[in-house]
Amino acid sequence: MNIRKVGVIGAGQMGNGIAHVCALAGYDVLLHDVSRERIEAGLATINGNMTRQVGSGRITAAEREAALDRIGPAQGLDAFEATDLVIESASENEEIKRKIFAELCPHLREDALIATNTSSISITRLAASTDRPEKFIGVHFMNPVPVMELVELVRGIATDDDTFDAVRDLAKKLGKQIANAEDFPAFIVNRILLPMINEAVYVLYEGVGSVESIDKAMRLGANHPMGPLQLADFIGLDTCLSIMQVLHEGLSDSKYRPCPLLVKYVEAGWLGRKTQRGFYDYRGDKPVPTR
Ligand code: CAA
Repeated sequence: MNIRKVGVIGAGQMGNGIAHVCALAGYDVLLHDVSRERIEAGLATINGNMTRQVGSGRITAAEREAALDRIGPAQGLDAFEATDLVIESASENEEIKRKIFAELCPHLREDALIATNTSSISITRLAASTDRPEKFIGVHFMNPVPVMELVELVRGIATDDDTFDAVRDLAKKLGKQIANAEDFPAFIVNRILLPMINEAVYVLYEGVGSVESIDKAMRLGANHPMGPLQLADFIGLDTCLSIMQVLHEGLSDSKYRPCPLLVKYVEAGWLGRKTQRGFYDYRGDKPVPTR
């Protein structure tokens, strides 16, 4: 399979990043979301991030223009009939993803591949909800997609070698390094990263440290580029909670119990940067801790 045209479902922070890197690597890209406004917002973010890359000399203005020209909006999933590969990057919610696949499959060519950017859900189970489990694979990008070097590739039980090879080659053309992971809850990165973030929330919940002291401790004490609570806000607290729930349910081990304080923030709708409030309040000039 020679992939030339890529469909991306979800124009949020992961989806727009995936569309961004695919277009820069020369693929034609169609970007879909539930409303025109969300697609427009995703395209505006891509424009802004590419302009930033021109500013720092990582790409030229001509490369930016050419890449932007390669990305088009897809209002309905019927627009994906000419795509070779569709990368699903909707919310981290199994029901939503299943609904998308049910609606998408009838529009696809028989030989088209489907990849999901799920950060934790079983690839085998998602694949089984499509009409092509052998042409289905997990391709897990990291946030921010244009900056982070890694992609995790996760085969479902039925994924065939041609699908794996085609998506591995695409990831390489995007300039990414690959880590292969087996299909177990949250794969490698999030199996390790999210319990650390959850533990940081417990440290806050138990009063061991403040938001600022926890983040400072891990930034300066472990050389992490962001503190764990800052990173949680960056990922999105709803996504962090979903991943912990997948680990807790999927591995039936109480060590993955989501911290009640994380649940409370999500219930409040304080989801981090995307809603302007999480462990920090982003509505002013500088982020201010909310505890
Ligand atoms: N698009 C394009 N470029 C971007 C960008 C974006 N969205 N965000 C940042 N950049 C670029 C900046 O322009 C800058 O480029 P230059 O070096 O060319 O100047 C560079 O990245 C560094 O950015 P900044 O100077 O603004 O800020 P920084 O040095 O603090 O780095 C960061 C920002 C790269 C996000 C860094 O803080 C970092 O690495 N944080 C940790 C990120 C991380 O852990 N991600 C994984 C999350 S887990 C995940 O994604 C999996 C999951 O499923 C939940």
